[in-house]
Amino acid sequence: MVFENALEFAVKLDKNDPLSAFRNHFHFPDFHEQKVLYFTGNSLGLQPVKAKTYITEELEDWAKFGVEGHFHSRRPWFSYHEQLTEKVAKIVGAKPIEVVVTHSLTTNLHLLMVSFYRPSGRRTKILCEAKAFPSDQYALESQVKFHGLDPSLDLIEVAPREGEHLIREEDIISKIQELGDTLALVMIGGVNYYTGQLFDMKAITEAGHKVGAVVGFDLAHAAGNVNLSLHDWGVDFAAWCGYKYLNSSPGGVSGLFVHERHADSKNLPRFAGWWGHDKQTRFLMEPGFQPIKGAEGWQLSNAPVLGMAAHLAAIELFDEAGMERIGEKRNLLTAYLEFIIDDISSRNGNRVNFELITPRDKTKRGSQLSIMAKGQGKALFDALTASGVVADWREPNVIRVAPVPLYNSFEDCYWFGQLLEKAIQ
Ligand SMILES: Cc1ncc(COP(=O)(O)O)c(C=O)c1O
Repeated sequence: MVFENALEFAVKLDKNDPLSAFRNHFHFPDFHEQKVLYFTGNSLGLQPVKAKTYITEELEDWAKFGVEGHFHSRRPWFSYHEQLTEKVAKIVGAKPIEVVVTHSLTTNLHLLMVSFYRPSGRRTKILCEAKAFPSDQYALESQVKFHGLDPSLDLIEVAPREGEHLIREEDIISKIQELGDTLALVMIGGVNYYTGQLFDMKAITEAGHKVGAVVGFDLAHAAGNVNLSLHDWGVDFAAWCGYKYLNSSPGGVSGLFVHERHADSKNLPRFAGWWGHDKQTRFLMEPGFQPIKGAEGWQLSNAPVLGMAAHLAAIELFDEAGMERIGEKRNLLTAYLEFIIDDISSRNGNRVNFELITPRDKTKRGSQLSIMAKGQGKALFDALTASGVVADWREPNVIRVAPVPLYNSFEDCYWFGQLLEKAIQ
């Protein structure tokens, strides 16, 4: 499609957008004086209108039933998380037995690494991407130390080549091959939080398995953003958060994936809690942990129902829209914003120096575009913010903008361009 940086063109794209009505299912922040352009679904997704209803219903049922709400509320709390499983499984390309909504992201990464990072003999190393999100870095480092090993020897990072911003997948694969039987675990962010680069998780999983390593992904920036097939790719485990692209409330519940081939594994070490124990015998309160078959066996605690109510409201929208249609709109919407940014960059090249560091190839990215603004980057970001654009700034010099298919429009992208140009000038 030949794009135009023109309002009528953007409006026409919105008219042809089969998902345009989903925008009405979200609240847009109104704290600025002027209308807000929200491009931060990669940090905190917008509130689904229905979230309030669902949370209120749980508050009503708590008031009405007290403890009996575990079984008598309209969505019984005892099994609350189960109604989320199938919908979330569709979002990440998994079988229901492979998915559970529980805890928070970093907690889940630790719980999963307790089971899946099992250094022994020569096989002690973890491979990850350089400049992973700090929580991942701390989690990986502490896991290595937990086993009495030395992160400077056993935590191996793959970085972009000199002068480049993106990590070449061939460098990840060749590092996996080079580490061979010393590699215990590959743990990479499926979409990098800084550059927006989407990694080929299938190829990385295959390469890891070929040398006998376990392969897991942090999908914080991937779940609800890119099309995933965790089961078919053979990924061993993954975890994500609910509050970014999944729009499920600040610090909201997250999810985890454990491949079906590990569903029955009684030998995996794990940190156990009563909510992961066999449901039939959980209330017999007997000693001896018997994990539920599949991902549910990694649960520790009973479900935080209010957070899950927000999650339910959000994932119902994903279910209705479908990841296929979301993916189609994501590609077009992101390409349109990319075109707008390029257009403004080329017309104002003498005033500002910025570069899109996110891959140009739509199969190598999700919604997020990262603009590396050299020189006056922070001033540019501040001017954009003052004009009503909600984007975010990541040190040292990147403005991240994420046009989210469920609630951003092509017109949003057009106006972003207008405000960017004004901010430059
Ligand atoms: C890639 C990545 N990993 C981990 C985290 C930490 O998530 P949480 O604080 O929910 O554990 C984030 C948060 O933004 C993230 O982007």
